[in-house]
Amino acid sequence: MSDHDVDDIAFLTGSPNESGFMVNKRAMYEPGAVMVCSQKRACCVVTLGFIAIITIALIVAFTKPGCPEATYTGEPFPGQSNHPTVSPPSTPPTATNGEEFPWADVRLPFHVRPLHYDISLHPNLTTRHVQGEMTIKLTTIEETTAIIIHGHELNVSQYSLKNKYGKPIEIIKFLIYPRHQQLYLGLDEILRRGSNYTLKMSFETTLKEELDGFYLSSYINGDGEKRYIATTHFEPTSARSAFPCFDEPHLKAKFHLSIYRDSQHFTLFNMPQQTTVPVEGSDLFLDEFQESVEMSTYLVAFIVCDYDLVYNFTEHNVKVSVYAPPNMINQANYSLRIASHILDYYDKFFGVAYPLPKQDLIAIPDFGAGAMENWGLITYRETALMFDKNNTSSRSQQRVAVAIAHELAHQWFGNLVTMSWWSDLWLNEGFASFMENIGAAVAEPGWAMEEQFIVEKMHPALSLDALLASHPISTPVTDPAQIESIFDTISYKKGASIISMLESFIGRNMLQEGLRLYLDSHRYGNAATDDLWEALTTVTKKHGKELDIKGIMDTWTLQAGFPLISVSLQDGHVTASQARFLVCEENVTDPNEPLNTTLGYRWHVPLTYITSGNPHNQTMHWMNLTDVDFDVARDTKWIKVNVGQRGFYRVSYDMAGWEALNNVLQTNIDTLSPADRASLIDDVFTLVNPFCTTIQNWAGTVSATVALDLSLYLKKETKYIPWHTALGHLFKWVRLIFNYPAHTLMLDYIHTLVRPHYETIGWNDTGTHLERLLRSEVLWAAVQCGNSHAIQEAQQRFSSWRTNNDSIPPNLRSVVYSTGVRYGTEEDWRHCWQVYNSSSIPSEKGLMLKAMAQTRDPWLMQQYLEYTLDATKIRPQDVMTVLKQVSKNPGGRLSAWRMVRQHWSQISQLFGHGSFTMGAIIKAVTSPFTSSFDLGEVEAFFKDVDVGPGERALAQALETIRLHIQWHEHNLDSLTSWLHQHLSHSQTVKGSGDSA
Ligand code: BES
Ligand code: ZN
Repeated sequence: MSDHDVDDIAFLTGSPNESGFMVNKRAMYEPGAVMVCSQKRACCVVTLGFIAIITIALIVAFTKPGCPEATYTGEPFPGQSNHPTVSPPSTPPTATNGEEFPWADVRLPFHVRPLHYDISLHPNLTTRHVQGEMTIKLTTIEETTAIIIHGHELNVSQYSLKNKYGKPIEIIKFLIYPRHQQLYLGLDEILRRGSNYTLKMSFETTLKEELDGFYLSSYINGDGEKRYIATTHFEPTSARSAFPCFDEPHLKAKFHLSIYRDSQHFTLFNMPQQTTVPVEGSDLFLDEFQESVEMSTYLVAFIVCDYDLVYNFTEHNVKVSVYAPPNMINQANYSLRIASHILDYYDKFFGVAYPLPKQDLIAIPDFGAGAMENWGLITYRETALMFDKNNTSSRSQQRVAVAIAHELAHQWFGNLVTMSWWSDLWLNEGFASFMENIGAAVAEPGWAMEEQFIVEKMHPALSLDALLASHPISTPVTDPAQIESIFDTISYKKGASIISMLESFIGRNMLQEGLRLYLDSHRYGNAATDDLWEALTTVTKKHGKELDIKGIMDTWTLQAGFPLISVSLQDGHVTASQARFLVCEENVTDPNEPLNTTLGYRWHVPLTYITSGNPHNQTMHWMNLTDVDFDVARDTKWIKVNVGQRGFYRVSYDMAGWEALNNVLQTNIDTLSPADRASLIDDVFTLVNPFCTTIQNWAGTVSATVALDLSLYLKKETKYIPWHTALGHLFKWVRLIFNYPAHTLMLDYIHTLVRPHYETIGWNDTGTHLERLLRSEVLWAAVQCGNSHAIQEAQQRFSSWRTNNDSIPPNLRSVVYSTGVRYGTEEDWRHCWQVYNSSSIPSEKGLMLKAMAQTRDPWLMQQYLEYTLDATKIRPQDVMTVLKQVSKNPGGRLSAWRMVRQHWSQISQLFGHGSFTMGAIIKAVTSPFTSSFDLGEVEAFFKDVDVGPGERALAQALETIRLHIQWHEHNLDSLTSWLHQHLSHSQTVKGSGDSA
């Protein structure tokens, strides 16, 4: 993503060296005055509840001593066959009543599994109280005398068990183990294998304050009144905080829901409503829904709201509806149109018809993720669903299309066929991320979505995966914090990238046939990575292709990182060698240290290339865990490896190789496709980092001057993909040297590249989708380079918008608002604050959030940062955007870091202590740091802070700062002298630089 975007969807981030961690998952929501049930009171209720339960449990325990208990046999759980099971804790787990909790594993035992849940809920949106009753039909897989089920912050008041004839089975022990969020029901008789039972439970809980579980959200309606809605977000492990359940993805069951509501609201569930009846003696209604299909708990969703809707029907008569607050419903038509279009397409593409009678898409005002694929009831952030053609930019429109295509792809990949365990999360998220470009391309054929794949997925994934603190795609996880921490760039973007690479060597048709087989064989069930490889192997074999798909793909899913392919061409002879690429400190790899993989950090690499003699037809050689060499025509002048950057690897050439390619770019740009041009830029700018490989410690073999020489061709570049890539890298360098004299030189240099293009691209918001995306980035680049014309134009548009309410074309708004604030007054900033507060257009609010971070007034900046601590000012879902944008502003970087340090415990409380969102915050505020002093400060601060699941993010942040320091040591001098030389040269030759 360019410097210029508001990344309100966490995974759509993508500037170099930034991971797209999910953020704000545990953000707190502050209710208005009428709603407040004080924390103290809530605590009392919960504590009293616990005391009651403990008392009951103690009475039960002491009246029936010596009950048999379930024991863990040590057999693997589904999805864990390849991984060691967790070792039990050294001290026995202790239940809330002080007794030993008889089950030590964070995973549930497999003795019983659920078949059917019947849930009845009565949420009170004023008191936040939720009363629940449920009946679960179970079946016994192995004999057992206990049932262990998930439950988190639920006050269970009654429970009973019956066999299939209705005979009660006494529950002699009821224990709660909050650490593993488990409940234990000890029985006085053995449950027989293969028999069915009915478990009933009554419970109470509250509508949560976090953006997880069953929680409260609100919006301001057209009359300025606050309206409350209750909604859910369960993935990965929060269903258990809404009702007791077997909260693991392989424990699928059918769900039936009834929910009480008042007359101002209506309710939604995964399935259509069946009946609604008034409740006698009250002004409530009871809504009952059709029974669901077999599904995992994390996909269950229900909502109480007072929204409006628009709807239509797909070719297969599925009712598609988009729900939004009434004052936003006029922004719902675009989503509706493309959702039904994409649903129709996926029906055909996957060869399995969408199985539910309806598909709802709904905008939620407070939403931690970007969107969530609940089966039949997809929830979205407002910015990921609402579109207004007069107000919303192409970038935000694309975000809407992509979010819809992504979540709809999950209806098959994830919902119909679910990963057996979270270690294979990439099967869900990698595939949905791969499919989102295909789905969006179908809805918007003019957008070159498939061409955009490399900048949206490959580049960010390669960037993160070059850190030592990366991890393999398939990675063992057990507890909720670990599970949440893998919703990251590796699962999403590296996952999508390796599928794209697979597609590049088996073809779309074969991939599609394999996916159909996989979906068909595992429908309503679960699967692991190997099941996918098996389906693809069957299909490729059938077509006479002998490919060891599993063997090839294991090298990409089981090892962290990726190879650097070093290529040299001499007299028609090419050698290509592979070694893991790490941007890391010199001498960090110890050749004597055992490798962290049995595959030895070697890969099956589909090496593709084009040459000067054959620039339009690619050739492929497999590097099967090895290096290769081959011959091309003797007079070959250049070779470009990794055609279209379809392979998940980087390529380094020798000096002659870079020069020859540079020559092609300077003399005949169209010889190489935009994707190839972008891939050269991305590789060369990355290789300028001091890097090493598993073969040798090999620092900075490519000098900064090689990258800069190559960048000169940009004067002739007109396409979005290479420009987007280049601007990302060039401005990253600007940020790295912001307090060195070379800073101004670098901006001047970028200006020489951008200016010709700035002059032709102009200020009319016209052209193709990619041209509009490009215009927005080029205008902003010009402003950042101090182009006086651009600044004046933006300022003038800003002031006529402020004073006369003159409308600004959607794709110019970002640059106009940001420039207006950057060069504006306090009143300008306050005007944006007022628009942020009053606008009913989510995309506009997003632009304001970003623009306000551009201020150069330290006091306004400080105030803005402090607003993030007040949920009534900045919604917690947006805190991350503010911190990140302020950190990117040279004048704000230190304030953001200071703020986070100073209010660490408050922020950490806001997001839930130890939540890995804190890891994302650490990355955001430390990413601009470049000196040893900064590093020392960050290390010193975190020495005594427990970041819990944010540990990997902290490691990545520290590694990144070290890299920046080394980048300076290696490149600052050569960069500075290159810039001096080049700028004086171009000034004498052509006259350059705008003096603004
Ligand atoms: N399944 C995820 C939502 C999610 C994310 C649940 C993190 C739990 C933790 C959903 O399919 C998703 O990937 N959403 C993306 C947006 C999408 C358009 C890429 C997100 O939330 O960023
Ligand atoms: Zn997803």
